[in-house]
Amino acid sequence: MITSKELRDKWIKFYEERGHVNIGAVSLIGDGTTGVMFNVAGMQPLMPYLLGKKHPQGTRLCNVQGCVRTVDIDSVGDATHFTFFEMMGNWSLGDYFKKEKTKWSFELLTEVFGFDKDKICSTVFEGNESAPRDEETAGYLKALGIKDENIFYLDKSNNWWELEGTVGTPCGPDNEWFYPRHDNPCCDSCDVNCDCGRYVEIGNDVYMQYKKLEGGKYVELENKNVDTGFGLDRLLLFLNGLSDGYKTDLFASVISHLEKVSNKSYDSDEKAQKAMRIIADHTRTSVMLIGDKNGITPSNTGAGYILRRLLRRAIRYCMMLEIEPSVMCDCTKIFIEQIYDSAYPLLVEKEDYILDEINKEIKKFLATISAGMKEFDKAIIGMERKNAFMAQKDPSYIPETVISGKQAFRLYDTFGFPLELTVELASERGLTVDETAFNEAFKAHQELSKAQAQAAKGGLAEQNEMTIKYHTATHIMLAGLRKMFGDKTEQKGSNITAERLRFDFNCDHKMTEEELKWLENFVNEVIAKKIDVVKTEEKYCDAVKGGAYGVFNAESDDQTVTIYTIDGVDKQICGGPHVKNTGELGTFVIKKEESSSSGVRRIKAILK
Ligand code: ALA
Repeated sequence: MITSKELRDKWIKFYEERGHVNIGAVSLIGDGTTGVMFNVAGMQPLMPYLLGKKHPQGTRLCNVQGCVRTVDIDSVGDATHFTFFEMMGNWSLGDYFKKEKTKWSFELLTEVFGFDKDKICSTVFEGNESAPRDEETAGYLKALGIKDENIFYLDKSNNWWELEGTVGTPCGPDNEWFYPRHDNPCCDSCDVNCDCGRYVEIGNDVYMQYKKLEGGKYVELENKNVDTGFGLDRLLLFLNGLSDGYKTDLFASVISHLEKVSNKSYDSDEKAQKAMRIIADHTRTSVMLIGDKNGITPSNTGAGYILRRLLRRAIRYCMMLEIEPSVMCDCTKIFIEQIYDSAYPLLVEKEDYILDEINKEIKKFLATISAGMKEFDKAIIGMERKNAFMAQKDPSYIPETVISGKQAFRLYDTFGFPLELTVELASERGLTVDETAFNEAFKAHQELSKAQAQAAKGGLAEQNEMTIKYHTATHIMLAGLRKMFGDKTEQKGSNITAERLRFDFNCDHKMTEEELKWLENFVNEVIAKKIDVVKTEEKYCDAVKGGAYGVFNAESDDQTVTIYTIDGVDKQICGGPHVKNTGELGTFVIKKEESSSSGVRRIKAILK
């Protein structure tokens, strides 16, 4: 048995022994400047460095990074889908390449983890018009002792890694590592191409040597990088001879608590098993999001809305399991006090706060559920009235007994009623639900959410002349807000497109006309003064001592950070990029000031 803690340690030790620096993890929450909601991959915070910028900690890096991926939230409930997971990563920034990387991955898998080299399968890129067939990697794999028949050449849909929907981002062919599952689900003669589930991907090495351009074209990068990602949660179950991710030490004690409280068996009651997995997964992700260093709370927009959906879905499944949703607070305590305490000490510090937020959301949702019950009754009464009316007019009229897919979906979407609950309630009244129509409505909704998620990711690398200008404008505007309202004024969110800036900040009142005019003038005066925007690098502690501020959270006081200074106006810790001189910005015009959420105001502004 290997524990999650041992696995994290082994990963870091292996790469530290090979010259890598552990850079630690960044926040799970996007900082707002890139438009992405969550951190979805270990490479995400390293993008500027993969594109060629010098990393202050060198060219060999490693870490264990939390990731949140909610695009597949509806798949959670099976044995291997999670909305939060930890990615164990290591990087070469223009340092070593395929030869060393294949050797180290192989060594780690066979010597440290004890995988049988004769069973390891590896897939490499078969080549296309953008990049050649990866014979080089295949050659190294064979030289290491991987059998010829266990090496597969696959197409771009399998062996090419890039952040979907982005441009200007690093990407390239990858080498994926597979191993057959211990319990051999369906056959013992198939290979990695079979989707029976026997072969499971345990990690991948991406050879990031291209940059993705507009129109799906790729150019070679000057630096040939390596970006490795192995999912801790998945590797852990594999190393322990398990096939169910909820049986590892990351979940086992939470599941057994749910079994105890519900008096249902995880192993022998399929419906209860699914509910327990969803409660456990969604509670864990919520704990991570609320307890993050840039933690969020449930709300009706953006990342806060995703958090709300997670919590409410878990609450619904508690009700299906016929247990009090407050069990999620017990699960929260187990996650914080017994499972993640040493790897995520901040969760321990924020425990009371996290519990309080979860509790508040449970209370709110329980109130919505009762409104949903009323809506359900209304739909039934409407149907009964119509039946009675029609029967009077036409004795041969066949009464309606089916709740429409649209109504069922409204109950699901607006009031959080799972289809199963609506079906159950309907059957008690001798009615059925048009499940086909519900599924159609559900699918249409899912496609929309996916499209929205992709669009959010698409903002990730949008970096052009205009967005850079808007970014600098937000700095000047925030400096103005702090002058007017004091240093407690902070960025609460930022979203920049080529057309406008949108900036959220804490403020306890609606801004007056005078305040808005003052702010507009302030920014335009700074523009008129044509002040240089100066970029420097300093240790985090010195930067803060020197008056710099920002949404940035340093790993340590000694961490080198980038600072952008507009002399006499503003000094922020920020990744950039910015214009060279404020004179480049044009004319700043505030278009709108409105509430964003409680205590947070939002300004939309343009540059003309
Ligand atoms: N960037 C690669 C992944 O996320 C390693 O799988």
